[in-house]
Amino acid sequence: MPSRLTPSAAPAASTFPALSDFSARLIAWQRRHGRHDLPWQNTRDPYRIWLSEIMLQQTQVSTVIPYYAKFLARFPDVAALAAAPIDDVMALWAGLGYYTRARNLHRCAQAVVERHGGAFPASVDELAELPGIGRSTAAAIASFAFGARATILDGNVKRVLARVFGVEGFPGEKKVENTMWTLAESLLPSNASDDDVSAYTQGLMDLGATLCVRGKPDCLRCPFAVDCLANVTGRQRELPTARPKKTTPTRRTWMLVLRDGNAVMLEKRPPSGIWGGLWSLPEAADEAALAERARAFGGDGSVSPLAPLTHVFTHFRLDIEPRLAELSRGVGAPAALGDAHTAWVALSDLDAFGVPAPVRKLLDGLQGSLL
Ligand code: ADE
Repeated sequence: MPSRLTPSAAPAASTFPALSDFSARLIAWQRRHGRHDLPWQNTRDPYRIWLSEIMLQQTQVSTVIPYYAKFLARFPDVAALAAAPIDDVMALWAGLGYYTRARNLHRCAQAVVERHGGAFPASVDELAELPGIGRSTAAAIASFAFGARATILDGNVKRVLARVFGVEGFPGEKKVENTMWTLAESLLPSNASDDDVSAYTQGLMDLGATLCVRGKPDCLRCPFAVDCLANVTGRQRELPTARPKKTTPTRRTWMLVLRDGNAVMLEKRPPSGIWGGLWSLPEAADEAALAERARAFGGDGSVSPLAPLTHVFTHFRLDIEPRLAELSRGVGAPAALGDAHTAWVALSDLDAFGVPAPVRKLLDGLQGSLL
């Protein structure tokens, strides 16, 4: 089958190939292969649609179904929900998670009663002003309940658009998200009946939930298989672009291995911060400062490099530059202990001190070299 991708002249979508019959193909696919018997379908009651959309935020269909039934039985309309004590709402919501949704649900019901006389407004903008209703949820309610030509853009839809149109960049990033809103709006069906609009919105949801899934998309059954950039180029795993990994900052420190025979000088770290309260090697911010510290401990200021090592903490990498300085104060000198913050410790006695793992590794290597 020839591809129906053609270059677009529209500035908004100019970065993406235009799929001129995207909406027609999606609507046809939804009617034949989409979901039609979910409990919140086959109604135009905005209360029921709103309730389902709030429950379906961050929660799977199979989990929502029994809660949806319980809520409708207990609160058959928005006025009943608005009049209920919040504790009753929370009790009925228990187990669905993300409890801010339940508080907003109650506040929203009250706002619909107080601000709109108990009737949900039909416009996306007015819906989006109500508690707990974001731009995508407002569009879903407006299209399902009122046949509004408004696009949704939830996580599933972002995945579909990223793959079909090859939208690069992490969709959680504002710029990428804005591009996707523009693209999604350009794809809406024109001159569509209320039923077409509902089928289109449901089609976007169904495609993302049943075929264009995150792990292993079922491209063979997809109505956009021949045009989908990810499918055609085999990039399903790369699109949508994953959240960028935070680059871990690197710090560098110089550590002094001040050795006298088989003993080394350890220094107690401050109680807070990394390795708080542990015994470690004296540190400095550069080699000259370290040599100065060695001199203060009785050395002659000469230091020689040992193999560098790196330790990775949760929030940063620590590059350690160890430098060896030798003292030779004669037999028994290590017994002359430092103060409460420093100690001469025999390499064979390290177990008695809390020493950070990478420092211990460094000192164990040193002990090996002395054997
Ligand atoms: N997820 C969000 N809205 C939905 C809907 N109306 N049907 C199925 N899954 C959904």
